[in-house]
Amino acid sequence: MDSVLKAIAADRAAALEELKAFLRIPSVSGDPARRGEVRRAATWVAEYLGRIGCRVEVVETPGHPIVYGEWTGAPGRPTLLMYGHYDVQPEDPVHEWTSPPFEPTIRDGAIYARGAADDKGQVFVHLKAAAAWLKAEGRLPLNLKFLIEGEEEVGSVNLEPFVVERAERLKADAVVISDTAMLAKGAPALCVGLRGIVYCQVDVQGPATDLHSGTFGGSVANPATVLCRILARLTDERGRVTIPGFYDEVRPLTAAEREAFAALPFDEKAYREALGVSALDGEAGFTTLERRWARPTFEVNGLLAGFTGVGSKTVLPARAMAKVSMRLVPDQDPEKIIEAFEATVRRLCPPSVTLRITRMHGSRPWLMPTDHPATQAAVRALTRGFGRPPVFIRSGGSIPIVTALTERLAAPILLIGFGLPDENAHAPDERLDLDNFHRGIETIAHLYAELT
Ligand code: BES
Ligand code: ZN
Repeated sequence: MDSVLKAIAADRAAALEELKAFLRIPSVSGDPARRGEVRRAATWVAEYLGRIGCRVEVVETPGHPIVYGEWTGAPGRPTLLMYGHYDVQPEDPVHEWTSPPFEPTIRDGAIYARGAADDKGQVFVHLKAAAAWLKAEGRLPLNLKFLIEGEEEVGSVNLEPFVVERAERLKADAVVISDTAMLAKGAPALCVGLRGIVYCQVDVQGPATDLHSGTFGGSVANPATVLCRILARLTDERGRVTIPGFYDEVRPLTAAEREAFAALPFDEKAYREALGVSALDGEAGFTTLERRWARPTFEVNGLLAGFTGVGSKTVLPARAMAKVSMRLVPDQDPEKIIEAFEATVRRLCPPSVTLRITRMHGSRPWLMPTDHPATQAAVRALTRGFGRPPVFIRSGGSIPIVTALTERLAAPILLIGFGLPDENAHAPDERLDLDNFHRGIETIAHLYAELT
């Protein structure tokens, strides 16, 4: 292990330069114009895996390619499957970045770029840990498989069929994923639960064209107003979702779970201040961590309608659009929830407009037991990497493929995140703390040894 740690330490500067090259590729999976860039990121990962000694395959899908790599030189030893994603979220609003999103910049001990934390920087942690072992020892202490996709940020729609089809090839004794955050700086964490999600677009069409709001206003439905009313009626003043049946399958938190959440060193005031809000908000009767980790939500992600330019324009817009999502918790079923959502929106929509609902993606919530031996190996690895034992947390975000991996591979999943909650994933000035990046590499190098 000493030789591996030495190799990691000696490689610090070079690792950062390599990570920068990865981060320079604008692999925005949701943007059709970036298709070539997304592929370039896949190729970058594949070449890297090849260079460190893995057998690699770039698998085509109807969407973006899947990179699969493996090193199987430890017969009789356990097999670890690493999952991650090389795609990123759009960089907009681009003018709010301090340095350009695809020109990685180091300042204040962090590397700033889209994808730094979510998830390229964290994927690279694993590539570096494997590289260090292979360089220092000429081998890994276990068999290692890499599954790195380019569609996580758009719902992983083409990955599930691949996992189903290749379940035998992907077989592993444990799965490790670094695509979550620590509890706070200096507080390493193992994440044991994720929320699920359903995402859709709602279009309301009114008159055939925009109209003079004075000449016609009051006589035809205004799609912007109609849409806002529908959306506003989907939650109530107690922060509850009003869709009938929405909470039917929600598993209540047990007293022990609530106690465990409450015992975590979570600073509510610091959280509020970091977010720049005057007060926190959410479902009545639940704490902030409960609201984020174990309660479902309805969110408007974006709204588009009418005139939003400078000055004023009196116009009755012809159409309005919203992108909405619902975060789900055990045991809510995305299929049932989207049905209930559609039925409710249709019921609330007046006959004077045309409504179109487009389903985009969905994924199930996930919760893992904490008593598996692999979890204990992860606890030991994190303790070595960060000099402090991790806490068990959940995350409010979603990683769509996690439930399929759990079911198809029947293996425990270790969510070992090296991001920080305030590193602006999906937002301007996304970054990754460099100390956590380096400790992350050491942690994963330890994990390989601890799992054997
Ligand atoms: N890394 C996140 C998931 C995440 C977010 C984990 C916050 C823990 C805390 C992942 O890349 C992500 O953003 N997933 C999407 C999935 C969606 C597009 C299906 C999400 O949660 O919005
Ligand atoms: Zn993300």
